Amino acid sequence: MATPASSTARPHPRTPAAPKPPFPHHAGSAISIEHFSLTEISHVLKRAEFLIHEDALVRTKRLAKRRVALLFYESSTRTRTSFELAAKSLGIDTTLVSNLSSSIEKGESLKDTGLTLRALGAEAIILRHNCSGAPYVLEHFTNLPVLNAGDGQHEHPSQALLDLLTMLRHISAKHAKGETELTAETLKGVTVSIVGDILHSRVARSNMLLLPKLGAEVVLSGPPELLPDVAAESAPGVVIERDFETALKRSRVVMMLRIQSERLAGLNVDLEEYKAKYQLDETRLARFAPEAIVLHPGPIIRGLELTAAVADGPQAKILEQVHNGLPIRMALIERAFDSLDSRAGQEGASR
Ligand code: CP
Repeated sequence: MATPASSTARPHPRTPAAPKPPFPHHAGSAISIEHFSLTEISHVLKRAEFLIHEDALVRTKRLAKRRVALLFYESSTRTRTSFELAAKSLGIDTTLVSNLSSSIEKGESLKDTGLTLRALGAEAIILRHNCSGAPYVLEHFTNLPVLNAGDGQHEHPSQALLDLLTMLRHISAKHAKGETELTAETLKGVTVSIVGDILHSRVARSNMLLLPKLGAEVVLSGPPELLPDVAAESAPGVVIERDFETALKRSRVVMMLRIQSERLAGLNVDLEEYKAKYQLDETRLARFAPEAIVLHPGPIIRGLELTAAVADGPQAKILEQVHNGLPIRMALIERAFDSLDSRAGQEGASR
């Protein structure tokens, strides 16, 4: 691993606006966090808070017998289970199609798989795919709302929303409950460090696009092989700090990322050197960030990006993140069906 520069924090230069998505965007889809205004995010948080506290029997009548397909081309524990439980808790019938036990194994395309699911009555599709941008393709061909459950190295918007909910529960309970509208100042003065394999992380990308909109400073920390300099140009309010301990000192929130060993081929990363510089252990945490909360999207690799003592310690809120996935995904599914029903209503009225 090349020697990282000591501290390369620098202001974000103005960059041109991101190109518009290549296909029309269904209002009920959740493909990129960029498509969500602060008003919409406030609404999602408000509905999440409401739905999780609603009587379970009343809640199952909300979308009873509606149909959602979960289409997963990559393995998942947290996202798949919480989307499925969220849909079921709203009364929705779900079906899971995985690349390992379906006609995808025989070569069926994403387009044909999506059209098949739609022909079977799916009204929305929750997609995890190894290719960045796949949800746009699926949305284009099916004209259904698509909820992105993680696409390649692009985005994981529902993860960023549940991360936000977890942070707000520790920083501003009123905002977490949706009682107060989010603004560009809600996270003013809050520094969130995202540490490790930024290059391959769709979670990092969604958080980098979301948190600065609320006024947070995002500090990226990691070696150049996993965190190229150009990452600081991806969004305003994002800086690089190669020295992990300096980043920790500034942090109210420390988000550790998994080292994606399946994506390290061809990269010159020495894992022992990585651990020496970037592993979050009890000593570092106590010395440099004793008040911070520690997040991790999972799956965690104990003994690599963080130690077991940190993962099981009082500052870690990793299982709270998992828990918060359920209400956030209920709210996103409800949003998809609200949009479908309002579109159907408008089409009916215009006939
Ligand atoms: N956070 C996350 O995406 O975890 P899974 O891969 O288990 O869904």
